Amino acid sequence: MTPNSSRPSGAMRAKPAPALTGTLKAPGDKSISHRAFILGALADGVTEVTGLLESDDVINSGRAASALGAGVEHRAPGRWRITGTGGRFHTPADPLDFGNAGTGVRLMMGAVAGSGASADFIGDASLSSRPMRRVTDPLGEMGAVFTTTDGRLPAHLEGGPLTGIHYTPPIASAQVKSAILLAALGAQGTTVVHEPQITRDHTETMLKAFGVAIEVERDGAAATVRLTGPQTLTACPVDVPGDPSSSAFAIVAALIVPGSDLTLEGVMDNPARTGLIETLQEMGADITLTPGPVMAGEKTMHLRVRHSQLTGITVPAERAASMIDEYPVLCVAAAYATGITHMPGLEELRAKESDRLAGSAALLRANGVPVEEGEDSLTVTGLGIGGVPGGGETLTHHDHRLAMSGLVIGLGANTASSVDDVAMIATSYPDFFAHFATLGATLEAIT
Ligand code: S3P
Repeated sequence: MTPNSSRPSGAMRAKPAPALTGTLKAPGDKSISHRAFILGALADGVTEVTGLLESDDVINSGRAASALGAGVEHRAPGRWRITGTGGRFHTPADPLDFGNAGTGVRLMMGAVAGSGASADFIGDASLSSRPMRRVTDPLGEMGAVFTTTDGRLPAHLEGGPLTGIHYTPPIASAQVKSAILLAALGAQGTTVVHEPQITRDHTETMLKAFGVAIEVERDGAAATVRLTGPQTLTACPVDVPGDPSSSAFAIVAALIVPGSDLTLEGVMDNPARTGLIETLQEMGADITLTPGPVMAGEKTMHLRVRHSQLTGITVPAERAASMIDEYPVLCVAAAYATGITHMPGLEELRAKESDRLAGSAALLRANGVPVEEGEDSLTVTGLGIGGVPGGGETLTHHDHRLAMSGLVIGLGANTASSVDDVAMIATSYPDFFAHFATLGATLEAIT
C-alpha cells in the first residue's frame, strides 16, 4: 500500500471563468474502485486492477483489505494487484478505519460478516454520525452479531455463521443491497434482495465477472436479486470506467460558463448512474454522447458538453436513486437556468456525508440564489446565465460534493464564490484541481 500524495486544504475561491475548453479523461469510478478492492480481497487468486481511483476513500478500502489478509500492491498510477484470501479473512489486530467512506464501511461490514471474521469498524467524525442500522439490522437477521454506538460507528462485529434472508430494503440504497449480497456469499442458503426502485447494480455485475452465480430479475423499475451461498469468487481483471458523479462537476461548469466546449472521455454509461445527464438534457443542455469501450462489464461514453441556456424542470422523484450524489451540482445548474427547478424525493440527501439538502440550500442562498428547502425537496428559482450574483462562502461541513459545487457556482457568477475547506475533495476526486486548471478555471487558495 502507498498513501496519497499531498493535496490542497483550507479555504479557496473560484473566480468567474473564461470559456472552459479541453478534453479530460474521466477519473476512475469510486463505486467500482471500492468494489475492486473488496471483491479482489474475497476472491481466490490475483486480481489486476487498472484505472483505480486513488482517492482517500478508496485507499481506506484497500488498507482494510490488506488488514483482513489480502495482498494489496501498488504497481503504478491506477494499477493495483490484489492477492485474494479465497473468502478467508483474518480477524484484524486493529480497528478498520474507513475515514469518510460510507460505501467502504457498509460494504466491508457485509463482506467481513460473510467471511466469519470479527472486526472493529471506525471512521471520521462525518462517517461516525451516519446511520449504520440500515446495514447492521439485515446482517443481524442473517445471524451477524454487531454492537454499534447507538446505531453508528464505532461498531464491533463478532464473527459467526450466517444464513440467507429475504429482504426488501426500506430505503433505495446500493450500499445496503451490496452489504447483504456480500454477506450472502458466506451464508448458508438463498438470499433474496428485492428493490422496489433499482439502485446502482455494480456489485451484481462485478460478482458475475468474478464467477458468482447470481440471478437478477427486472420488473420495470424494480429488481429482485438472488444468490445462494456459500460461494467463492474467482479473481478476474478489473478495468475501472470513468465516474459519472465526479464528471458532473465539469459538465455543469461547461454548461454555465459562456463559450465553453469540453469533452469527457470514458464516462460510465449505466442507467442507474446517469440520471443527471438525462435531467440536464431535459433542461436543454447541449450534450452529445458517443459510445466508448466496455470496461468492468459497464458501457462507457464520451461526452461533448457545450455552454447552454437551461430551463427549469421538475425532476421525477423516481429518478433520485440514479443521481443521488449529483443533487448539489444540479442545484448549481438550476441556479443558472431560467424558471423553477423542483427536486422532490430527496430524503436520503439528509443522510449523506453531511445533510446535503440543507447544505445545498445554504450554498445557493450564500450566492444570492432563491431556494425553498422542504423536508425532502428543493425548489430553486433560476436566475439565468449572467444572473447569479455569487460572492458567497459555502460551508462544506467536511462534504466533498458541497465543496466542489461551492466552487463550480462561482465560475459563471458575477463575483467569485468561496468554500471554507477543500481538503475533503481528495476523498473522491483528487485530480479536481488539476482538471479544472486544464480547462482554464482559476481556483485559488484564500490566505
Ligand atoms: C454508493 C451508493 C450510494 C452513493 C454512494 C456510493 C455505492 O449510497 O450515495 O456515494 O457505491 O454503492 P446509498 O446506498 O447510501 O444511496
